[in-house]
Amino acid sequence: MSAYDAVYQRSIVEPEAFWGEAAQGVEWDVAPATVFDDGRWFVDGRLNTCHNAVDRHVATGRGEQTALIYDSPVTGVVRRYSYAELLESVARTAGMLCDLGVVAGDTVVIYMPMVPEAVIGMLACARLGAVHSVVFGGFAANELAVRIDHARPKVVLSASCGIEPTRIVPYKPLLDAALEQAGHRPARCVILQRPEAPADLVEGRDLDWAEAVRDAAPAGCVSVAATDPLYILYTSGTTGVPKGVVRDNGGHAVALHWSMSHVYGAAPGEVYWAASDVGWVVGHSYIVYAPLLAGCTTVLYEGKPVGTPDPGAFWRVVATHGVRTLFTAPTALRAIKKDDPSGNFAQKWDLSGLRYLFMAGERLDPDTYHWASDLLGIPVIDHWWQTETGWPIAANCVGIEPLPIKPGSPTRPVPGWDVRVLDPAGEECPPGVEGAVAIRLPLPPGALPTLYRDDARFAESYLSRYPGHYLTGDGGFLDDDGYLFVMGRIDDVINVAGHRLSTGAMEEVIAAHPDVAECAVIGVDDELKGQLPLGFVVLKAGADRDPADVERELSAMVRDRIGPVAAFRRAVVVGRLPKTRSGKILRATMRDIAAGRDYRAPSTIEDPAALTEIADAL
Ligand code: COA
Ligand code: AMP
Repeated sequence: MSAYDAVYQRSIVEPEAFWGEAAQGVEWDVAPATVFDDGRWFVDGRLNTCHNAVDRHVATGRGEQTALIYDSPVTGVVRRYSYAELLESVARTAGMLCDLGVVAGDTVVIYMPMVPEAVIGMLACARLGAVHSVVFGGFAANELAVRIDHARPKVVLSASCGIEPTRIVPYKPLLDAALEQAGHRPARCVILQRPEAPADLVEGRDLDWAEAVRDAAPAGCVSVAATDPLYILYTSGTTGVPKGVVRDNGGHAVALHWSMSHVYGAAPGEVYWAASDVGWVVGHSYIVYAPLLAGCTTVLYEGKPVGTPDPGAFWRVVATHGVRTLFTAPTALRAIKKDDPSGNFAQKWDLSGLRYLFMAGERLDPDTYHWASDLLGIPVIDHWWQTETGWPIAANCVGIEPLPIKPGSPTRPVPGWDVRVLDPAGEECPPGVEGAVAIRLPLPPGALPTLYRDDARFAESYLSRYPGHYLTGDGGFLDDDGYLFVMGRIDDVINVAGHRLSTGAMEEVIAAHPDVAECAVIGVDDELKGQLPLGFVVLKAGADRDPADVERELSAMVRDRIGPVAAFRRAVVVGRLPKTRSGKILRATMRDIAAGRDYRAPSTIEDPAALTEIADAL
């Protein structure tokens, strides 16, 4: 039996012994006597996640080691924080939150660009046992308002602006607009003033971050139950209402700490860089928590793969900061490849220290895999996961035993994840046959225990389709060697440039257009971004409109209501949508047509010509 097989089997057969041992990698205030009970991990343990990520390393002699490197080509700043400096900043920021009345269990919304204060704010919440909810900066005011109303924060942490390569994005007016729309009123907003675009502060509500922190006394770590929430991260579901994925403290710390050595093969003291954004789960897990829990140096990069200033940006960061492990999304590599197909920019830098390139966010297509692998000459490792799971479900666990790579596959299930491919009747599909990818319960530590303030939606969305299993929403198959191939979503979630978006949310916006009778949005393949949204709209009778004007108006509405990340630019006016006789829009068939898959019009279709119209428009 291979080393991987042995570890994997043990994690499935003896999960309590397995995770009980892994829990020893974390420092507990009260060590858990019970590893697993009634669906929850480490139920009677107590700890503080910030202590494990920061204080612990200072106490054990890593105080002078760099904890965080902020590299910002958009501002020209590079700044290093040692673990001791990070501790000082986090403790003081936690003190500021205390002064504002934040206590354990309160929620704090963080709407910030990729600046160190975003990381410090997250850790400061963890320090107090407060629950942060980070909202990605590319979302519009309306999306922020929806999250504020659901999370009900006592305090909002934000900044005056974000910086995109082509423009400054004032965040404060977006926050002001969101607070006008939201029913919930946070007691205070703390605004980091950036020199590129300082913001006007609202008297009595807004505080200047630098001043508020300067006046605060450092706060210590508050011990919380392992099952207490660390954060809420809203993610797109199939409707316009986002799902508040909850992460607990104990399972998260254990799983992430374990993953750094076993999945990524990373050791304390090494430089680990996840080129993502703190607004996404990859940013939560592998910019902030996991590298710090493991005593690594993490990189916070405020820039893009191309254009800041050129397609050598990633290679510059790798070479100048001594990055050992790089984690990015295939779309970022495709952007680099498009601008620098021969990899000339990579040749300019000494990349000999880079050991692994990990990829996630969407399927790593074989072309991009081969390009990166030939260019770098190191293992390029696809791994598959989701906001809900918090850490990889399938990967080549190089820290246990590197397995041969099969391009197009994220390799095999990670220990702890009992992956099954099921047919519509719930039977396991034989090797090579595609079905719904599900995880047999229990989920390992670190996976979501529930949706925030919505246990019923959690059960309905994930647990009801296949009793005893968690439904991932992805389709795929296992091959004869047990390698998993994840082929794409089987629901109405799409993936645009590594950003997870809901077509249902876009449909809600489009349906509000005065001339639109009905609509359907699907994801279509895009060479650079993986997928792009494409809308089909039927106009109301008598609406005599130029389709180009309708497209422009709908694009502006989606940008305004959801945000620029939605990249909604194409809307096709059609005579009718394909539907069943009972009126259900055939979205799955539309997706098959768009993906170039074989499709068969269901016998219940109302008007088969409607499908031809869709196919012609693509
Ligand atoms: N704040 C404000 N606006 C933002 C933003 C933020 N944090 N992030 C993105 N936007 C805006 C962009 O400016 C752009 O606006 P535009 O329509 O006016 O040009 C729009 O949202 C789309 O942005 P993006 O998806 O980044 O596309 P792009 O064309 O600017 O760049 C890539 C394409 C591939 C280079 C880029 O998408 C990328 O780096 N993707 C990797 C994503 C990733 O790492 N995801 C994490 C998963 S691991
Ligand atoms: P998110 O929750 O934003 O991380 O998005 C999760 C979704 O992205 C998954 O359900 C998949 O559809 C897709 N995804 C992420 N990583 C991969 C991967 N390595 N291979 C295939 N799909 C992926």
